[in-house]
Amino acid sequence: MITKSTIDRIMEATDIVEVIGEFVQLKKRGANYVGLSPFANERTPSFTVSPAKGIFKDFSSGKGGSAITFLMELEKFTYPEALRWLAKKYGIEVEETVETIENKEEENRRESLMIVTAYAAKFFHESLLETDEGKSIGLSYFKERGFNNDTIRKFELGYSPDQWEAFTGQALKDGYQQEFLEESGLSVKRDNGSLYDRYRGRVMFPIHSFTGRVIAFGGRTLKSDKNVPKYVNSPESEIYHKSNVLYGLYFAKKAIRDEDNCFLVEGYADVLSVHQAGIENVVASSGTSLTVEQIRLIGRFTKNITILYDGDAAGIKASLRGLDMILEEGLNVKVVLFPDGHDPDSYVRNFGTSGFKKHIEDNKKDFILFKTDILLKEAGNDPLKKAEIIREIVESVAKIPDSIKASVFIKECSHLLKIDERALLSELNKMRLAKAKKDSQQQISRPVPVEETLLDESTIKEAREDASQEREIVRLLLLYGNRMIDWDGIANTYVGPFMIAELSDVEFENPACKKFVELYRTEVENGILPEEQHFIHYPEKEIVDLTVTLIATKYTLSENWYEMHKIMVPDEQVNMKATILGAIFHLKKQKVGKILEGLRSELQKTPSEADQEILLNQYMHMKKVEKTISDYLGSVILK
Ligand code: CTP
Ligand code: MN
Repeated sequence: MITKSTIDRIMEATDIVEVIGEFVQLKKRGANYVGLSPFANERTPSFTVSPAKGIFKDFSSGKGGSAITFLMELEKFTYPEALRWLAKKYGIEVEETVETIENKEEENRRESLMIVTAYAAKFFHESLLETDEGKSIGLSYFKERGFNNDTIRKFELGYSPDQWEAFTGQALKDGYQQEFLEESGLSVKRDNGSLYDRYRGRVMFPIHSFTGRVIAFGGRTLKSDKNVPKYVNSPESEIYHKSNVLYGLYFAKKAIRDEDNCFLVEGYADVLSVHQAGIENVVASSGTSLTVEQIRLIGRFTKNITILYDGDAAGIKASLRGLDMILEEGLNVKVVLFPDGHDPDSYVRNFGTSGFKKHIEDNKKDFILFKTDILLKEAGNDPLKKAEIIREIVESVAKIPDSIKASVFIKECSHLLKIDERALLSELNKMRLAKAKKDSQQQISRPVPVEETLLDESTIKEAREDASQEREIVRLLLLYGNRMIDWDGIANTYVGPFMIAELSDVEFENPACKKFVELYRTEVENGILPEEQHFIHYPEKEIVDLTVTLIATKYTLSENWYEMHKIMVPDEQVNMKATILGAIFHLKKQKVGKILEGLRSELQKTPSEADQEILLNQYMHMKKVEKTISDYLGSVILK
């Protein structure tokens, strides 16, 4: 177990904006930061980070919590793993007590897969650098291709020995389970049930998730035999969804953000060479056509994509349609062609960093103009084909959400196509209209997030009353528990301990609320007045979720929200006493109501006379309690 003092040091060092900023492009807005949710596909940012509170709240997926919760949600880290990740980031040494040596079998499946994959990466890497076969075959190949030691280390390149069971045998010997070796695709099962290596005699490119963990491999053959597949790639698994992954993103994301642009290339070698040349904002789609998920992944870091195409034009036309998707996502797409016979890898090696950069500067074209060019060349003088092109181009332009940008393209295309701008515009408007119609139909079925609809005080109040009374108690404990309350100038008490004492006879039903109140009570009994930070960083998800949900509404996250909307500060802070007592007694009333209901149904079951009398007595008593509470609520609190 990681020691408490290490945890404290990690918490102290952690800057939530910095941590989340590694994954989400954040913009400062007032006291907070906002960005696009990494958990939902959205175009308008609803993901909010509050550095002051050390929390994030994602209003589209509902997720929220601390930096640790964020890592757990996004990376599927366990709690200790998230701590270790932060410790590494902030250079904090992790002290552990020995009592719990992590047990491989107890790790969940995903984690087991990640562990076996990381183990394999290490195996292949060591085999490349430390075995004779690896050095003479794999390493010399990489060297010949111009990759230096830094690149080989950074990308953890490797080599798989040319044997049937070199890896599998070692992995089994080291205690890795068959199940995970197979599921990760590292080993393949024979008919007789035994396993053999999927990768044999190949140079290995580990594929990292965008948070830096190895999740898959591409293995390139070194043979020129046409019957041998050039690449063998990991199959899809619980940890590897090809369509959601971009090769090199983990190593590129910082540069992508800094440069506000992402170069997209085709192959592993292209990423490595370009990166090695100091142009680090480069990723590869690894041979598959680009997916929406990949585009959105890039879109989290930048709105600008520059696609670097190989010289051979065969694939280009086929991919043009796919690129409309990028426009639709609101990203700016530029395209650069490399001269025949060159790909980014060979070009940068031949012409160096500055030659490469110059080529891009001189040749980059906006995607739409690039597409127009290509299609025009193809059509020649055929008027029918030309009409078809016009439709296709306008279709692309119609996908651009920004209408000013779209009209600039229309102007330029009208030059290229030698056609009247107005004709293009009217075509564009027709398409836009059709699209708007379709969108608005979709809008209706899309549920509007609750927070969006809360726009005035009465609706806030309504929602608050709708929320369960138990949650209201937790909310008040969180917000005001450590405040002093003045009981008519006679005695001062802290709100938290007062509420806890008052509620000692109440049984909470909601498991999270129950747990929360118990935790709060324990702290109070130990003489501690727990702060919200205690619960934000609590190692249990349900507590963190409850806490963040209750403290992170759009209103509390935005300090001047009330002012902005010219809304009076709600009276709960002004009349603290009424708020606290109101919550306590509303909850009690609710509980009493439930007890009464229970007694009524018992009575209806026609019990024996003796039992009936007992029940009736209880019933009368509870009725009195109910009336007392009602009177109290009515007269004192007037709520
Ligand atoms: N690819 C693949 N399977 C293949 C061929 C290609 O998965 N049979 C993917 C790989 O991710 C590869 C990318 O498509 O990196 C581009 O293919 P290619 O240009 O043929 O490979 P390079 O990596 O450029 O290989 P090299 O330069 O070493 O020939
Ligand atoms: Mn290549």
